[in-house]
Amino acid sequence: MSRAGVVEEAGHEGFLVERMGEHDLLEIVEIEETCGLSLWGWDAYRTELDRAESIMLVARREATDFHGAKRVSGFVAARLSAGDLHINNIGIREEARRRGLGRTLLGAALELGARAGALEAILEVRAGNHAAQYLYAGFGFAPAGRRRNYYRQPAEDALLMTLRLGVRA
Ligand SMILES: CC(C)(COP(=O)(O)OP(=O)(O)OC[C@H]1O[C@@H](n2cnc3c(N)ncnc32)[C@H](O)[C@@H]1OP(=O)(O)O)[C@@H](O)C(=O)NCCC(=O)NCCS
Repeated sequence: MSRAGVVEEAGHEGFLVERMGEHDLLEIVEIEETCGLSLWGWDAYRTELDRAESIMLVARREATDFHGAKRVSGFVAARLSAGDLHINNIGIREEARRRGLGRTLLGAALELGARAGALEAILEVRAGNHAAQYLYAGFGFAPAGRRRNYYRQPAEDALLMTLRLGVRA
């Protein structure tokens, strides 16, 4: 980490990638509600922020808006567990998509996870969410299984995808 929580080498033109803070949570909840993600809600993110094993990052506009706040354009929530890095949620505001922010945030989370010793990254994705699957495939994630009717509203299978980060002893 360099200045004030900025994640090193993970910036993106016009944006800063930083550790998520409690002050970001209203925006995070708004983004997850508009992204069609499985809803965690404010309390769950607040609890997650306190876990030493969580890796939660935001992409924040460098320029302040007219209220003086730096608007959050996207986020990733991941957690280290039993030697693996679980990517739990990633979402980018619709108007900020296809500019590389998803790739930048996911890359930063994977880098931090690998540095913390994670050997494998794991995630679930809706079987019909091709945009996210292309994003993951770009990092080398490969399908590792399918969970029937894993998701609700609408019901849909989950694809389990994994990526080797390190070498098991
Ligand atoms: C999936 C998501 C996070 C991608 O974020 P993004 O910032 O738009 O992605 P990027 O601009 O970094 O794109 C990186 C790569 O992902 C793939 N990709 C992203 N969006 C895509 C789309 N709509 N169609 C096809 N490929 C896409 C491409 O391979 C892209 O590389 P390219 O632009 O060089 O072709 C974003 O679409 C999103 O928030 N979706 C809703 C929430 C969601 O589905 N989250 C994942 C839950 S598992």
